[in-house]
Amino acid sequence: MADLIVYYSLEGNTAYVAERLKEKLDAHSRRLVPIKPYSDKGISKFLWGGKSAIMAEKPDLEDYNVDFSRFDRIIFGFPVWASNFTPPLRTFIEENREGLKGKRFAAFACQSGNGAEKALAKLEKCVNETAFEHTAIFIDPKAKHTEDIDRQIDEFAKALS
Ligand SMILES: Cc1cc2nc3c(=O)[nH]c(=O)nc-3n(C[C@H](O)[C@H](O)[C@H](O)COP(=O)(O)O)c2cc1C
Repeated sequence: MADLIVYYSLEGNTAYVAERLKEKLDAHSRRLVPIKPYSDKGISKFLWGGKSAIMAEKPDLEDYNVDFSRFDRIIFGFPVWASNFTPPLRTFIEENREGLKGKRFAAFACQSGNGAEKALAKLEKCVNETAFEHTAIFIDPKAKHTEDIDRQIDEFAKALS
């Protein structure tokens, strides 16, 4: 089975999980990059990103070029923003409704506190209520990295295999 990991990461935590998963699953990946990057500094990081998530914005993305016919399953990855999934994934889903039809889905979320369950439920709804086969939640896996986090990622990869 061919997997594509589609993710957004502002500060590298989601990217850390995505890259380890990619290696474990022998999957492909696409990191979504907004043309106008979100701030990663100070209070504007939270105000701008938080507002964008709450307003369900769909920021324009740099080219990502996916051939959906090559993949059976899409694994979404994102940082939780204001108990929601991050706006670049919303853009991706809206731009690829046709390509995503009939695919299988899984997802993981990174957070520092809570809100991931809500965010995953919102993402599931956005992908037309198609149930995720597997989900996982990680707490700042790069910023607060431990060996246990790597074990959790490997367990998620095992569940997906
Ligand atoms: C705008 C913004 C909103 C956030 N909202 C939440 C939240 O609602 N709940 C939470 O636990 N963490 C929240 N966080 C923290 C991130 O989800 C967390 O640090 C995550 O691991 C970052 O992943 P990344 O490095 O891939 O961007 C927020 C971070 C930002 C920048």
